[in-house]
Amino acid sequence: MTIRSVLAGTGSYLPARVVTNQELAATVDTTDEWIVERTGIRERHIAAEGELTSDLAVRAAESALEAAGVKGEVLDLIIIATTTPDNTFPATATKVQARLGANRAMAFDVQAVCTGFVYALAIADNFIKVGQAKTALVIGAETLTRLVDWKDRTTCVLFGDGAGAVVLKAENNGNGASAGAIRNSPPKGILSTHLHSDGRHYDLLYVDGGPSSTQTTGQIRMDGRDVFRHAVNNLSSVLEEAMQANGVTAADIDWVVPHQANRRILDSTLRKLGLPEEKLVVTIDRHANTSAASIPLALDEAWRDGRIQPGQLILLEAMGGGLTWGAAVIRL
Ligand code: UT7
Repeated sequence: MTIRSVLAGTGSYLPARVVTNQELAATVDTTDEWIVERTGIRERHIAAEGELTSDLAVRAAESALEAAGVKGEVLDLIIIATTTPDNTFPATATKVQARLGANRAMAFDVQAVCTGFVYALAIADNFIKVGQAKTALVIGAETLTRLVDWKDRTTCVLFGDGAGAVVLKAENNGNGASAGAIRNSPPKGILSTHLHSDGRHYDLLYVDGGPSSTQTTGQIRMDGRDVFRHAVNNLSSVLEEAMQANGVTAADIDWVVPHQANRRILDSTLRKLGLPEEKLVVTIDRHANTSAASIPLALDEAWRDGRIQPGQLILLEAMGGGLTWGAAVIRL
């Protein structure tokens, strides 16, 4: 038997305030038409003054723990993927740990920007597979709008705030993954994760501040066109890698739950792989780009509204600053 990380529950939280494209167009030189046509975004949620990444994370975590029927005190591990921690240190995960009463857990943050949730999920999965944790909470939480330069129309229209979380439990199920085996007697849980980075492209998407460089928080800077090009190439290649590793084809995939950066990136990636649009979980229109939070937000939405069902095969994928990119294959 193989120890696998099974998804026991999901949760999410979005701040109450919704800002439409029209509202942004009143303060920066843009239009609703341009934003919708170039990105698919119609509106985004923005955290209230004083509402922190940890507040969003706790709300998402409580909802995931409730869905999983798990109490905070049994958690062995809490990882928060975030690029907008409450403070430079300590890890926001430790603050969330205290509020959840998860006193037994080890808790730390992971920084892989928009790919952060896939990185955090892979790390938690590996802790579980080696037996170092039995119950883990993985959160993607961001107040990304705090890093936005509201005068820069090329970036300020793209981002939003939010949090999503999943509870993973160790379960003995299935034998090792092999081509064909997954189709015939499908094991449950995280079947594989695939992580990549290429630091040669560090300055395509970055924040122009930080404790070591400027002692300020800084703001987001991006060469959008170049990031777009890398995103389509890297995402289609990592998805192919993920399917090949599990001996499955596009036809076997029930849902793709992607990082939501741009509707056109999602469509181009799917087209390259021959995956139909109906298999895509899309939230970009209402959430915009919430960085590490976008995948667990989309996953929770599709799980709760009944689109995602037990037994289905899902693909997660993301790409972000670093550059970093990755994918995960999960049988629910
Ligand atoms: O999540 C992490 C990964 N991030 C991404 O994957 C983002 C990847 N990049 C993108 O999604 C797209 O490149 C953007 C949405 C950022 C930009 O779309 P684009 O189609 O690549 O536009 P562009 O940068 O080529 O700009 C086209 C034109 C420019 O005007 P000129 O030079 O042609 O006169 C821009 O100045 O659109 C202009 N523009 C805008 N116009 C109205 C840029 N931003 C805006 C705006 N409103 N908000």
